[in-house]
Amino acid sequence: MNTEITIIRPDDWHLHLRDGEMLAAVLPSSAKIYGRAIIMPNLVTPITTAEQAEEYRKRIIAVRPEESHFEPLMTCYLTDSTSADELHTAFAVQAFHAVKLFPAGATTNSDNGVTDIKKVYPVLEAMQEIGLPLSVHGEVVDPEVDVFDREAVFIERVLEPVRKRFPELKIVFEHLTSKDGVDYVLEQDKNMVATITPHHLLLTRNDLFKGGMNPYMYCLPVAKTFEDREAVRKAAVSGDERFFLGTDSAPHPARAKEKAGAAAGIFNAPTSIGYVTQVFDELNALDKLEGFTSIYGARFYGFSTNGSTITLAKQEEAVEMDWQIKVGADIVKIFKPDTPLFWDMVD
Ligand code: DOR
Ligand code: ZN
Repeated sequence: MNTEITIIRPDDWHLHLRDGEMLAAVLPSSAKIYGRAIIMPNLVTPITTAEQAEEYRKRIIAVRPEESHFEPLMTCYLTDSTSADELHTAFAVQAFHAVKLFPAGATTNSDNGVTDIKKVYPVLEAMQEIGLPLSVHGEVVDPEVDVFDREAVFIERVLEPVRKRFPELKIVFEHLTSKDGVDYVLEQDKNMVATITPHHLLLTRNDLFKGGMNPYMYCLPVAKTFEDREAVRKAAVSGDERFFLGTDSAPHPARAKEKAGAAAGIFNAPTSIGYVTQVFDELNALDKLEGFTSIYGARFYGFSTNGSTITLAKQEEAVEMDWQIKVGADIVKIFKPDTPLFWDMVD
């Protein structure tokens, strides 16, 4: 039985760091574990230009712990009015590593998102040409569609038409939650990958209601059925290069989570690699862990793997910690599912 594992330092291919005090408070958790991360652009004022991205990148570097080499990889927030020309220019100076599609109204700070996919076809055309990946929040916002079906319906209404029209466009189907999503990625022969989060490896929709309604288990896309979780787990441990880790760590202060209209998002950075390792261990797939956390994503985004390693060890007793961090006068609670955590990063 494996009780210790050393892997190439992982990367996080989907991360929300926020800004200001929150950024300073949450960054150390990610910087301790990950070599690089794709930084989501959904700030209160979204990152839509190369200049904004560069300013934001500098703010991240400014609060990065001294000993850390963590590298933020910036992304562009796609709006109805994003200009294809500007993206060309931005790409030339490597300002962006991906462009993020938030359907307008789909999630946190998505009001400036895309209202109709056809409006951004000229931008997708340019991205296809230059090889800039489209990172996708894959949910429709149609209020008539059941919340638990929004990923599946997105495939049919948005993703498939885009794939047909732009077959060479590189797409990252972010935070896969459903069997439909997994099956769709598996059916594609090229230019289509997906990120998987620690929480979607662990949660089902039951967790939202266990012991009373629990906003700390609430994120978007929302966790789904046991069958869906099974499909997501199977994809993660399959060794198929199209599936890799993106934590979607998304901090919100307790006051935004513990209220009616609770914010969507799970702050999982501190426990992310431990829980992922634990799931791989449970599924007897520790030999597939390094590919999922540290190799496939780097390959997709055109990077070499990190030059250092991390070591994780399975503890005798469940890991204990203060399951929250302070952010100014607020606290942010750390992802703590029902399952006790035994795997911890020790080096
Ligand atoms: O749960 C989520 N939280 N899903 C998202 O897509 C965005 C994120 C956030 O920014 O809080
Ligand atoms: Zn996200």
